[in-house]
Amino acid sequence: MSTFSPPEVRPLISRERIAERVSELAAQITREYNGRSLVLLSVLKGSFIFTADLAREIALPVRVEFLGVRSYGDDTKSSGVVQITQDLTRPVEGDDIVIVEDIIDTGLTLSYLREQLLSRNPASIKIAALLHKPARKQRDVDIDYLGFTIDDVFVVGYGLDYAERYRNLAFLGVLDPSLIK
Ligand code: IMP
Ligand code: MG
Repeated sequence: MSTFSPPEVRPLISRERIAERVSELAAQITREYNGRSLVLLSVLKGSFIFTADLAREIALPVRVEFLGVRSYGDDTKSSGVVQITQDLTRPVEGDDIVIVEDIIDTGLTLSYLREQLLSRNPASIKIAALLHKPARKQRDVDIDYLGFTIDDVFVVGYGLDYAERYRNLAFLGVLDPSLIK
């Protein structure tokens, strides 16, 4: 396995700690969704690795769907107005949805997304988020399955990017932009 770790990224959460937490969340989801029609709804791109690991630890015949979203606003601030850039391939009416997100920052993206999905009449919607930054909260979002709570720092790795880079790091780290070459 790759141990690639560039100098501009200070390690925050190791791949081992992530794996352990993802297994715990998956075990909880497995218990709670037994006998139901579970759809993991992965919000691209940031949650692609979290989704892949979570899905493989869930001991149920889940469906996986991907939703591409783009948030209007500048790079660091979310406007909360979300454009769907890639839609689901099937209807989710009557399904039990777990939205899989990389990180909940202001909460604007997810509260908008939840509203949009409710109009498609699923049986239920819950939220799994790898990370939560409560310091920047603007909307209350109930996170049903949370990996880690972090301080107000900019993190990359394990799917999360800075300018589309660093998604492939196996761990989560804090980016120091002054060190980028
Ligand atoms: P918000 O909750 O609407 O503010 O937006 C959350 C989205 O902003 C996430 O899905 C990420 O794509 C992005 N984001 C927020 N904080 C970070 C971070 O620390 N690193 C990488 N992406 C982030
Ligand atoms: Mg995202």
